[in-house]
Formats: sequence, C-alpha cells, structure tokens
Amino acid sequence: THIDWDEQAAEKGGYDHFMLKEMNEQPEALKAAITGRIKNGKSILSEINNLKEFITEKLRKIFVVACGTSYHAGLTFKYFMNRYSKIGVDIEVASEFRYMNPHVDENTLVLAISQSGETIDTLEGIRIAKEKGAKVITISNVFGSTIPRESHGAIYMNTGPEIGVAATKTYTAQIAILYALGAKIIELTQGSNDEIRDILKGIEEMPEVYKKVLKLNERIKELAREYVKFQHMMYIGRGFGYPTALEGALKLKEISYIHAAGYQAGELKHGPIALLDEQFPVFAIIPKDSLYEKMKSNLMESKARNANIIAITTENNNEISQLTDEYICVPQVHEALYPLAMAPVIQLFAYNVAILRKLDPDKPRNLAKSVTVE
Ligand code: G6P
Repeated sequence: THIDWDEQAAEKGGYDHFMLKEMNEQPEALKAAITGRIKNGKSILSEINNLKEFITEKLRKIFVVACGTSYHAGLTFKYFMNRYSKIGVDIEVASEFRYMNPHVDENTLVLAISQSGETIDTLEGIRIAKEKGAKVITISNVFGSTIPRESHGAIYMNTGPEIGVAATKTYTAQIAILYALGAKIIELTQGSNDEIRDILKGIEEMPEVYKKVLKLNERIKELAREYVKFQHMMYIGRGFGYPTALEGALKLKEISYIHAAGYQAGELKHGPIALLDEQFPVFAIIPKDSLYEKMKSNLMESKARNANIIAITTENNNEISQLTDEYICVPQVHEALYPLAMAPVIQLFAYNVAILRKLDPDKPRNLAKSVTVE
C-alpha cells in the first residue's frame, strides 16, 4: 500500500536504498561502535569486565568462527593479531568449523562474529566449542539474539539496525571492535604498546576519514560506468589488503551478480592469472604499505596480460597512474587501518554497478539477511 511505501521511504532517510543509507552512516556507526570502547588510543571495552577470566595465562589460541562478510572482518583481525599478538589466531567459516572436529579446548577463546546473531552455522559452531570446554565471546549487532545469549560474553556493535542484505556499516564496526578487543588482549598478555595506541587513535579518527572517502562516490560512479560491461572481476590484495579483496569480490557478486573472485595477489601466478585478458579486469587493493612493492609486481604481471586494472591506493601515490587504468585514493592511515579506510570504496563500487544493472541492492536474489536454516 501507499502507507508502506511512505514508511519505507521515510526509513531510508532520503536515500534510494537502505544499502546506500547504511554505507553513508559509517562515520556515525563506527563512532557508536567505539564509544566507551576506545578512548585516546586506549582500549576500554568495559562491558567485558570479566575479560581477564577469558584471557588467562593458559590461553593458547583464539579461534574465530563466522560466515560471509563477518568472516572477512575476522580474517582482518587474524592479520592484526598475527602481527602484534603472541597468541595465535585460527579462523574458519562456521559451516566448515562445525563439521571439522575443530581443535579447541579449555585453553581456547572462540570468537564468534555474527551481525544478526542468528546464523545457524555459527550458532552450531559455538555450541560445539562450548562442549569442548572453550570460552566463547560473540560480536553481534542484535541485542538479545541467540548466539550472544548462548555465549560467555557478548559485545554489541551499537550501529543501529542494518536492513540491506549486504553487510556494510556492520562490517566496518566489526573490524573496529575486533581491533579494540585484540588491543585489550595484547595489553593483558604483553603489556602496553605504542604502535597499538597509534592504531586505536587512528580508529578514533576514522569517522573523519570516512567523510572524505564517502565523497569519492561520484568518481566511483564513473568507474562503475566503465566497468559494468565486464562479466568478471579479479580482486587482489596482500596482507591486510587480502580480506578487503575477498570482501570486494563478495559485495560485487552479492548485489550485481557479476562473477568476482578475491585472491591473495601472490597466488595469481599459481592459476588465476591464466584467466586474465582484456575481458577480465583486476581490482587491486594497493595501499602504500609494507607490501606495496610486491603488489606493484603483481599489477605489472596483470598488465602484461592486457587486463584492465582499477586500484585503490593511498593519496599522493605518484606512480599509480602508470601502473593502472583507473584508480581511487584514500587518505593515508596506519597500515592496519586500510581495511577500514578502503571498505566504503569497494562497497560503493558494487552498489553503483548494481544500480547501473537495474538491480535492487537491498534485496539480492537468492540471498537472505540472516540464514537461520542450514
Ligand atoms: C548472510 C548475509 C551476509 C552476512 C552473512 C553472515 O549471508 O547475506 O551479509 O555476512 O549472512 O551473517 P551474520 O549475521 O552471521 O553476520
């Protein structure tokens, strides 16, 4: 009825789609997610005041369990912890975790990440982990949902509801909260650390960075117009850029139905490079970070196969125009924060491609916001 339509339009707050609204909410959503959790470069996370019970001397491993976009947030956390923490992080998608006899025990902290808090595979995964004696902490956006209720501890994202099927603002909120949690774990197990303090300060500045990144939408639209004609897209990245590549490919598949793959750039030569030609473009995640030179070689390899290349890089990268066909620049941030700074770009790109293909990004075919049956 008309009333429903008006209500929907009002809920969209003037945006054409919930997804567009939610991407644009990222400055405020991220701020809400870190309020009371990160302050002046320090991780507070007061809601888990018994966190010390989870982070005992016996803690040997953190095992992350999640699906879809939440899995990509978890993978980003793995890169963060591998670099800074002495405690190793393992990660598995929940549908594999629950059937693999996962190696978790009373000295493992299982971290479930689920926007909805209802994903059946993640829920069954934590049930198995609990039976094996592991402690479980869940990061979720839905207060009182099943997975956090069945966990020993819960952290709620506080981003407000996410309606669009494709996760956007909750993805960036997850990464910010995971870093806060990681920082706390590192502090409890290894003491304080200046670099981590810089990273957390960088997260506090991220809402301002987002305001700049979201203004790139007009430029991203131009790119979408040029690339909508392709049937494929290969997203590549290294290190912190790799989970971003996976998430970029997932977003494109989910809402624009274009075949997209995310690969570790170093794996190109082990197979995927055979696909590249003038019909199969590359979308490179290439911040000015410690793996920049390696990524550059991968771009040159791709160029030699006549692939069109889009890149997201750091502002003031003077050589990027020679390496690529098109590029987008985000402000310089700490290496660990490019997954946050670049997320809106990959999201907006997928969104604009979907719109050009006359698809409804809020309701992609065959997908549900929350998968509660196997
Ligand atoms: C579905 C959604 C995805 C989401 C995934 C995991 O596939 O379409 O956007 O990332 O579930 O959902 P969760 O609620 O567990 O984070």
